Order: sequence, then C-alpha cells, then structure tokens
Amino acid sequence: MSASSLLDGNACVFGLQWGDEGKGKIVDFMAEQADVIARYCGGANAGHSVVINGVKHSTHLLPVGIFRPHTINVIGNGVVLDPEKLFDEISVNSAKGFAITPTNLKISYKAHVVMPWHKQEDAAREAAAGADGIGTTKRGIGPTYADKMHRTSAIRVADLLREDTLKERIHRIVADKNKVFASLYGEKPLDAAAIYKQYADYGKRIAAFVDDTGHLLIQSWKAGKRILFEGAHAALLDVDHGTYPYVTSSNCSTLGLFTGSGVPPQTVKNYIGIMKAYSTRVGGGPFPTEQENDTGHYIRERGNEYGTTTRRPRRIGWFDACAVKYSSDLCGTTTIAVMLLDVLSGLDELKICTGYTLRGQKMDYFRADMDTLAEVEPIYETLPGWKANLSDCRTYSDLPEEAKAYVTRLEQLIGVPISMVSVGPDRTATLMR
Ligand code: GDP
Ligand code: IMO
Ligand code: MG
Repeated sequence: MSASSLLDGNACVFGLQWGDEGKGKIVDFMAEQADVIARYCGGANAGHSVVINGVKHSTHLLPVGIFRPHTINVIGNGVVLDPEKLFDEISVNSAKGFAITPTNLKISYKAHVVMPWHKQEDAAREAAAGADGIGTTKRGIGPTYADKMHRTSAIRVADLLREDTLKERIHRIVADKNKVFASLYGEKPLDAAAIYKQYADYGKRIAAFVDDTGHLLIQSWKAGKRILFEGAHAALLDVDHGTYPYVTSSNCSTLGLFTGSGVPPQTVKNYIGIMKAYSTRVGGGPFPTEQENDTGHYIRERGNEYGTTTRRPRRIGWFDACAVKYSSDLCGTTTIAVMLLDVLSGLDELKICTGYTLRGQKMDYFRADMDTLAEVEPIYETLPGWKANLSDCRTYSDLPEEAKAYVTRLEQLIGVPISMVSVGPDRTATLMR
C-alpha cells in the first residue's frame, strides 16, 4: 500500500492513543501526494512536528501541509482559533521560507476564536482545581468550546470581520466575564477597549484568509481532489469517548471529522490510525501501563518525550493493545502506522498489555471510565527485544526479526493491518510494509 493509494477516496490521519503519536510526520509524508490538508478539531493545544533534512519544524494551529507548497491548507469550523498564535506561527514559518498566504491557507468563517479571557479562565480553573486539575495546556481550549455551546458569549471568525458589532459584543462579554473573574477567582478586570482594538486589528489581518471551507472541501471532493484530514490530539482524549474528564474539549477521534470540517461521511474512505510502539500521555488521568521507573526513563530520553507545545515531560508506559483496540474500533481504522519503533532498541524484553484484571475478574476490553481505569491491573504478554539501531533501516525487511515479530503481534491484537512503520523523525525514515 502506498501513500498515494491511501489518498484514493480521501483519508484521515488521527491519533489512536493520548496524543503525540507522530501524526505530524505521517501527514507530512502523505501530503506530498495530497491536494488539500484540513484540520478539524482542537487549537493551539496541538503540537505537530515534522523533520525535513534534519531540521525540525512544528505547527500548532496550521495544518502540516504548509510544508508542502503545492497544497491548500484548511482550518475547519471545528477548530478554535487563537489569532495571536496563528500570526506568530505564520511569521515563524514564513521566515523559514514556507510561504503562508491567502492562496494556500483558508480559515473557516465558522471557527470559534480563543479570546484573552478564555486563556485566563483556563489557567484560573486549573489553579482553583489544584490536585484535581486536568493538566491542560492553558491555551484556553476548554473555555472557548464551552462558550461555543453557550452561544451568547461566543465569538466566531466571522464576527472579527464586523468591526461595528464586534465592539458591542466584546464590551458586553468582558463586562460579564469580569464579574466572574472577580467573584470566583479574585482576578483583575480585563480591559474591553484594549481587547477590541487588538481583535479588530486581527480581523483586518485575517480577512483575506477567511473562506467557506466546508463548501471548499465539498467542491474539492467533487472535483476529484485528494483531501487529507489532519486529526489533532487523539481518540483517548476525545471529549465523549476518551478517558473523561482527563480529555481535551473536542471530538478529536475521527467521529468529529464531519462536524468539524463540514463534509458528509462519504467524503472519507481511508482512516489511518497513528500509534507509538509504546504509550505516552501528558497531563493527568489514568494510565494503566505507566512505567515510572528506569524503563520509563530510558524510553523518555531515547524518544525525546517532552511536549511539543508545553515541553512537559511525557508520562511513559508499555503499549496498551486493549486501549488501542478500543480506539481503533471506535475510529473505523482501516490501516495503522506504528511510530518510534527505533526508540525501543536496547530493551531486553518488551511488554504489551492484552487485557486487565478488575477486582479479580479478567476484563478483555477497554472501558473509558476513570474509576474503572484507576483500578485495573494490566495483563502483560512479554516479547523479546532487539539491540540493533533501527534508524538507518529503509525497508521493512531491514528490521531485525524481533522488531518484525513485535509489529506483527500488535497487528494481531488490534485486528487492523499495519502498513507503515516509522524508525526516525525524518520524512525518509518511513517504511511501507
Ligand atoms: P503529533 O502531535 O502526533 O504530531 O506528534 P508530536 O510531533 O507532538 O510528537 C512526536 C515526536 O516524535 C516528534 O518530535 C517527532 O519528530 C518524533 N518522531 C516521529 N516519528 C518518529 C520515529 O519514528 N522515531 C523517532 N525517534 N521520533 C519520531
Ligand atoms: P497533539 O495533536 C498530547 C492533553 C493535555 C491535557 C488534556 C487537556 O500534539 O497530539 P487542553 O489544553 O486540551 O484542555 O488539555 O489534553 N492534550 C494533548 N496531549 N498531545 C496533544 O495534541 C494534546 N492536546 C491536548 O496535555 O492533558
Ligand atoms: Mg503533539
């Protein structure tokens, strides 16, 4: 199977674990063959990295397709857009020679805007929750999605373009938010006039990028263009189906693709699940296979497991096949890419969680429920490790037999073909199987 054939009928790349699986790398790999790349969920809480000729580049809000000059990049309606972060990202990447213009970047007029009060509320709520906090990225994501549902206190990209109504809207919302900040969190009031000035300016700068992106995607599909949907976060962080409440605030499994980009289900045929050869998560929440020991430390350092967005050390665990079977089934996964297999070199043996015991009873499926997950004990299967460095392998047959056996076992447990294996961060370190 080639990257090109995976785009026949369009494709979605998404995370099968708790984020940072290497989605950015595979989106970039596939984008070479795509016409349009579309983000459909989340915001600047995402961090997608790409390594091109040894140089690392990252995006938070921008689709990874910006590193492929021939593509059109869409920020869909399901994304929450922080204009400050957007323009920072545009200028950082433009300075590196990646042109980002209204020709190759299209932003939905329906996307919701992350405002200064959202970031303040995110930080204030986390501080107030103390040990019960979620461990958010403090990018204002949850409060922006909450206001989207509240409606009267929301601001969409289209609103930024209407200076007259924007002023009245910002003043009304800030008056309300200031009451909440003062009484709940003892915080200083926000200055509505200054915020209006700044966001009216963002409105002028963003105008040329704003489009009806749902219409654009449907027309592109009808015209036979090849569309790649770029998932952010991951299925186990999905607000409905993940390990709630330790999740993000969007439907970041594939189930959110349609509402988040404005296309019908028939648009996408191929669902490419991305998973690490082990597990990581950032922030709080249950993590049955977590290894807070020398093995965890070894994997963290070899895999450089520090957050792309917040630089927090990522928590490390053995591969949880039970959790991934759940997310893979949920997402309609048609093929899988295994990432960071090179990181496991040097370990004598590798463990895979194949089920759990809960109060003495065997449980062979994953229940995305906090209380259950906090109590389960993983059941492990042990496989032999390998010593060889994998990072120079350029075909699947170059891999040591133990590494191939590990991949085959993951595939059997999940029940979906593994068609790609990644052995290094660079574009070229991607083996088709
Ligand atoms: P994303 O959020 O899913 O796009 O993943 P991130 O970019 O946040 O984190 C994945 C990290 O792993 C990045 O630093 C990548 O450059 C790196 N990476 C991706 N694939 C591989 C691989 O196969 N091996 C190694 N060693 N690093 C990889
Ligand atoms: P990518 O796209 C890893 C986690 C945060 C936190 C929880 C809620 O790079 O894979 P939020 O700020 O979203 O309200 O935080 O979700 N989280 C991620 N973890 N990778 C991500 O994105 C994440 N996006 C959110 O660490 O635990
Ligand atoms: Mg990331």
